[in-house]
Amino acid sequence: MDHMKTRTAESGDAENIARLVNTAFRPERFFIDGDRTDPDKVRALLDKGKFLLAEEAGTLIGCVYVELRGERGYFGLLAVDPVRQRVGLGSRLIDAAEESCRAAGCLFMDLTIVNLRVELPQYYRRHGYLENGTLPFPEDQHPPKMPCHLVRMSKALT
Ligand SMILES: CC(C)(COP(=O)(O)OP(=O)(O)OC[C@H]1O[C@@H](n2cnc3c(N)ncnc32)[C@H](O)[C@@H]1OP(=O)(O)O)[C@@H](O)C(=O)NCCC(=O)NCCS
Repeated sequence: MDHMKTRTAESGDAENIARLVNTAFRPERFFIDGDRTDPDKVRALLDKGKFLLAEEAGTLIGCVYVELRGERGYFGLLAVDPVRQRVGLGSRLIDAAEESCRAAGCLFMDLTIVNLRVELPQYYRRHGYLENGTLPFPEDQHPPKMPCHLVRMSKALT
């Protein structure tokens, strides 16, 4: 962890980002039978926002997607290499995403989780986020195997 470096992704990172995200999001296979993303989708996101990458000795071990939406920031695809989880890396990436949006003038930060991931609200509440609405499950993702929706969580970036 002490050797962790964070940098902003370039288009050449798309394949490694997709691989990391798909590995990290395997716990979602109980409701989605498919990869979470692919390099083309990552490249499309790089046109709209940016990925912050955590690396150790040149290896990608964590990432988060950050997008500016006026006075609100959004982060998603927070992913930590499964063998590196629970040592604070996800928290550091959330901090980096918030700092990036704060520096760009955002007043709030939003994220969404799938309602079936019952362990996640507590994780994000510990970072100051509160549930404030729901959204339909996105149509551009693999169709889920059971009914579900997104829950939006937000916090003020003071
Ligand atoms: C969610 C995720 C980003 C958290 O990153 P992390 O580096 O493991 O988390 P941190 O080390 O910052 O925080 C650890 C704490 O978060 C909670 N936590 C993290 N992952 C958890 C999990 N899968 N289940 C339950 N609690 C979890 C625990 O309280 C843990 O503390 P503990 O080990 O003392 O119990 C990471 O588990 C991950 O990549 N998951 C798969 C992808 C995903 O679900 N992303 C979020 C989608 S919105």
